[in-house]
Amino acid sequence: MKKIYLSLIAVFLIVALTSMTPFGKKIVTVVNFSSATTLDQVLELPDVPHTYEMDLPEFLENTPSIWGSDPRPNTFSLVTNEGSTLGRVLFYDKLLSADNTVACASCHKQEFSFADNVAMSEGIEETETSRNSLQINDLAWQNTEELFWDGRHSVLEEMVIQPILNPDELGLDIVDLIIKMEDTDYYADLFTDAFGTPAITEERIGDALSQFIRSIASFDSKFDVGLQNGFSNFTQQEQLGMDLFEMNCGFCHTTPHFASPQNNSILLGANFTNGLDSIASDAGMGAWTNDPFFDGVFKTPTLRNIAVTGPFMHDGRFETLEEVVDFYSEGLENHPNTFFNWLQDPRGLQFEDNEKEALVAFMETLTAQEVLTHDKWSNPFVEENNNTVSTLDPHLFEDVTVFPNPASEFTYININNSTGKTYNITLSSMSGKQLQTDKFAGNQYVLNTSDLPVGIYMLEIRQADARRTIKLAVN
Ligand code: HEC
Ligand code: HEC
Repeated sequence: MKKIYLSLIAVFLIVALTSMTPFGKKIVTVVNFSSATTLDQVLELPDVPHTYEMDLPEFLENTPSIWGSDPRPNTFSLVTNEGSTLGRVLFYDKLLSADNTVACASCHKQEFSFADNVAMSEGIEETETSRNSLQINDLAWQNTEELFWDGRHSVLEEMVIQPILNPDELGLDIVDLIIKMEDTDYYADLFTDAFGTPAITEERIGDALSQFIRSIASFDSKFDVGLQNGFSNFTQQEQLGMDLFEMNCGFCHTTPHFASPQNNSILLGANFTNGLDSIASDAGMGAWTNDPFFDGVFKTPTLRNIAVTGPFMHDGRFETLEEVVDFYSEGLENHPNTFFNWLQDPRGLQFEDNEKEALVAFMETLTAQEVLTHDKWSNPFVEENNNTVSTLDPHLFEDVTVFPNPASEFTYININNSTGKTYNITLSSMSGKQLQTDKFAGNQYVLNTSDLPVGIYMLEIRQADARRTIKLAVN
């Protein structure tokens, strides 16, 4: 195992600030910019890279789709072992966020097929995303003309940069990110292995992340085994579910990847609302195409691994697959852009109870275990101090006041600290650059803000593994 110990942006500075408080009392604050290691991560990678390079198995290439001729996209050829290894590190590195607290993997968790298990995920500063996190599996052989729920991106290499810039997700400027990455002692080697030289560029970041994402696929589901043995491994119930699925669902969830057909569905107009709402509060594809024909329309996501990716739909409104099937059975709503078959009979598909159970049983055969468990897609960082159990009083962080905010000269951070714990205080710019860190153990900490340029800063107060981040304005 290669072990690289990181101590990021370690700034060793001791500054003694002597100033007057607004009350005329002289105070001396020793701001000890001690080793500013908000990221206690250890990177562990195998000496010989894992194998990410693979191809679509023949039995899938030759599987007819319900559409008849659906040329199977196949972008596995873009994946290299070294590029994906770099992509894996990027995907799990919290350095990619403005305040070093969130990574791609915070919202895309391997055990849930790289979806999240909550309706809305939390980005930096506990900001909620406006849609449900999408599962990431089998993208190398899906219709990636439509990325995101509303299909607004079509090039994966460019799309993967978006979450870094999105203020609800990682909230970082790309130039600041590259500066942060150049400060680490591991990216130069990883970029060299992947691309031949250590240069860190936006393009290479996008490329490596996409390689890692394209590599996420495995073909070990019960359904895949069934495709090769004529489904002799299926129970009667699963067989019934598959038949019902083909009849009622396969038009949109095209086999064998169960996502939108490859023939660009926007161009063919083969996108419909699946009857979720008669009045859509989120216009989806309609919002960016400015075309009422796409109002309320979302892409048809893959159902591979669907059993582990709940909650479901773009807003995470359904908790279980049973609820999803109930919806298709009885809960369809009419909207001008609803699937034409359903407009004729808006009562829903009216499944019997045993049919509903069979549909769920069939969808459960689509779970590929390797994606959920293989080490090559797992977190390469080992959190240090894992054994420091937080003894934090749960109310403690609610008792923090920061005054005045906006600050002009000084800011007083008051903490109800009856048990004498030690806190770490970190002040960072909005782009995540650490400006000051300090430790203190009292009830009040005085932060000198007189030398700071006017702007918005992030103040992080941390004790063991609990933290509170507060936006601090400086006038
Ligand atoms: C704060 C949570 C959050 C973080 C962090 C995050 N994502 Fe996402 N991701 C989402 C949400 C939510 C969506 C769906 C957004 C939409 O459709 O509007 C999404 C969608 C995606 C998709 C689209 C999949 C598809 O089938 O269309 C990909 C790929 C993706 N994210 C990759 C990444 C990468 C790479 C990173 C890190 C650079 C990242 N995400 C960071 C929440 C997050
Ligand atoms: C008219 C096209 C269409 C048909 C037919 C259809 N779906 Fe869907 N399905 C969609 C779309 C579009 C979405 C995403 C909708 C959204 O979130 O707004 C979706 C979402 C889902 C989801 C949730 C996916 C996720 O990642 O959250 C499941 C599960 C699902 N469908 C199962 C089925 C089943 C089972 C059937 C048949 C009974 C079916 N679908 C029929 C288009 C369709």
